[in-house]
Amino acid sequence: MLHLQNIHQAFSSGDSTLKVVDGLNLVIPKGEFLCIIGSNGSGKSTLLNIIAGNQKPDNGTITINGTDITGLQDFERSKWLARIFQDPFNGTAPELTILENMRLASRRTSSKNLTIGTGADFRKLTKDHLSILGLGLENKIDQPVGSLSGGQRQALTLVMAALAPAEVLLMDEPTAALDPKTAAMIMEITNKLHAQFGFTVVMVTHNIKDAVNMGNRLLMLKSGTVFKDIPAAEKRNLDIVDVVKWFD
Ligand SMILES: Nc1ncnc2c1ncn2[C@@H]1O[C@H](COP(=O)(O)OP(=O)(O)O)[C@@H](O)[C@H]1O
Ligand SMILES: [Mg+2]
Repeated sequence: MLHLQNIHQAFSSGDSTLKVVDGLNLVIPKGEFLCIIGSNGSGKSTLLNIIAGNQKPDNGTITINGTDITGLQDFERSKWLARIFQDPFNGTAPELTILENMRLASRRTSSKNLTIGTGADFRKLTKDHLSILGLGLENKIDQPVGSLSGGQRQALTLVMAALAPAEVLLMDEPTAALDPKTAAMIMEITNKLHAQFGFTVVMVTHNIKDAVNMGNRLLMLKSGTVFKDIPAAEKRNLDIVDVVKWFD
């Protein structure tokens, strides 16, 4: 369970101060798939940065399964958290092969065992995970990641999160840089991996259709606070037209 308590974050420029997150409280149970929407500048990325540890909040506490992680750096949180960015080229190392990238991902949570991933077992594990994608990447594990398309790299980053395995997957507009067909594929893969591995997903999206169709909870941020918090039962009956009106 991810628990945010009374999170405050303000940014000042000149003599004005902008309250970007203003006393936010949020409980995200294990396995939940939460979509977050909000206008530009409503604090969505700031919130993900605060959860990830790239931004230390002015105030408030973040716990994962009861462990207070508020004071921990981003790399110290990596055994709980994986992150997917908008830019597909952000999550993987292009000069390394798929296998080597998978190896790095698996080390993320197992610092004690640095020899992990050198043998046939790890090749098999990697291939098994990649075959879930249905993209044929399991036949390309010795190719450099730089030779893959943006969509394939985004898919690979997702599998790396599943392999690790992360408790919480943070996604900040993961499909914004992709064409519609590839974007749909990435959403489908996200659903598949979420169903199979049961990690918690927190996904920021500008795509209202995805926000309505994906996951089992929808949150809208406005003025640094939670403007809407729609649980699964209610979310199933949501209409895209109504959600668009919330932005007025
Ligand atoms: N490090 C920072 N320093 C100053 N202002 C920031 C910083 N990060 C974000 N902001 C401001 O905070 C507001 C919220 O930004 P952000 O969280 O990126 O919004 P969103 O992701 O919802 O579009 C914006 O007005 C942005 O300019
Ligand atoms: Mg953003």
